[in-house]
Amino acid sequence: MLDQFGRKIEYMRISLTNNCNLRCSYCMPEKRISDVHFFPMNQVLRCVESAVSLGITHFRLTGGEPLCYPKIEELLCKIKQIKGVDSVHLTTNGVLLKEKAAQLKQAGIDSINVSLDTSDEKEYRVLTGGGKLSNVLDGIRKAAELEIPVKINAVLREQTDVCALAAFAEQNHVTLRFIEMMPVGFGKILPVDPKSKVLETLQERYGRYERIMQRKRKADSQEKYGYGPAVYYRFSDLDISIGLIQAIHGKFCDRCNRVRITSEAKLKPCLASAKVIDLRPALEDTENPDKLAELMRQAIFQKPKSHHFEEQNSKKSSETMNQIGG
Ligand code: GTP
Ligand code: 5AD
Ligand code: SF4
Repeated sequence: MLDQFGRKIEYMRISLTNNCNLRCSYCMPEKRISDVHFFPMNQVLRCVESAVSLGITHFRLTGGEPLCYPKIEELLCKIKQIKGVDSVHLTTNGVLLKEKAAQLKQAGIDSINVSLDTSDEKEYRVLTGGGKLSNVLDGIRKAAELEIPVKINAVLREQTDVCALAAFAEQNHVTLRFIEMMPVGFGKILPVDPKSKVLETLQERYGRYERIMQRKRKADSQEKYGYGPAVYYRFSDLDISIGLIQAIHGKFCDRCNRVRITSEAKLKPCLASAKVIDLRPALEDTENPDKLAELMRQAIFQKPKSHHFEEQNSKKSSETMNQIGG
């Protein structure tokens, strides 16, 4: 469907739980969360059915950590069976990926994005509040072995060793994307220009770069480059593609194609806006199945035009990334 600004909305991100098995400093640093919730499976399925009726065809399961969701493979399998669903993807921290990869593959996962901000074991442990890098590595390798398309997401920090991550991704034959930190939850705008930090640094090590144009992306596999806002580059001496997601320095709201649902069944038309629409009353009203789709349609139509992150560092909303799902 089209929103009020004529953008085609075809992608829905569903946060399955606000819980996570890591504690990354910019996302969910607190040790305890008092209100852990899991989106009931039947309600997730109803949301997908209603979204499909509005023309949404691509879905991404997020968290918190979606692999903490009980029976995620069963949910995935059921979503894939819904007529009109073209693809289903996952964004995970990768900790449980090794043990879940085969089931995800069997259930029909189309691609997986793994969050990994450093390839240094000690730094990883500090950044994630105790995570073990080898678990993530094993997960990435297992997924690759099963021929699931994998991309790595690295949120940029001032200290990010861009070349080390690129070498690591090349060794593992996976696409690597650098993400500009957004002032959401515990995140903030950093004094780093992603383009110069990433492209200029990599150019010194890996030679000239060029942007991968839309035509080439389409001719290649869609699962390789995804359906999101990343812009991709190739370097002459690097065997993998490098993506940049720059919500502030390279604002992409005019081509936004997505909406989100939190694990508490709140539809969030824009990541940056505090406005949410509670879907629970419609989800509970099983007598009137059309009510949910109609509520979604109205909310999506009114999706805001863009974020105002530039002005927002000082007056952030209280929502954290683990609630929204990135
Ligand atoms: P692909 O289909 O593989 O391209 O996925 P994606 O990039 O849409 O999803 P992923 O979960 O890997 O998100 C990567 C980063 O992009 C996260 O930090 C997200 O918060 C950010 N991101 C994704 N979609 C949006 C968006 O609509 N707006 C903004 N501002 N950031 C987004
Ligand atoms: N800014 C940008 N990306 C973030 N993520 C979490 N918090 C932020 C933030 N403040 C990333 C995660 C994951 C994706 C879903 O969102 O690292 O890759
Ligand atoms: Fe879309 Fe909002 Fe993200 Fe902009 S900030 S790209 S409008 S979700």
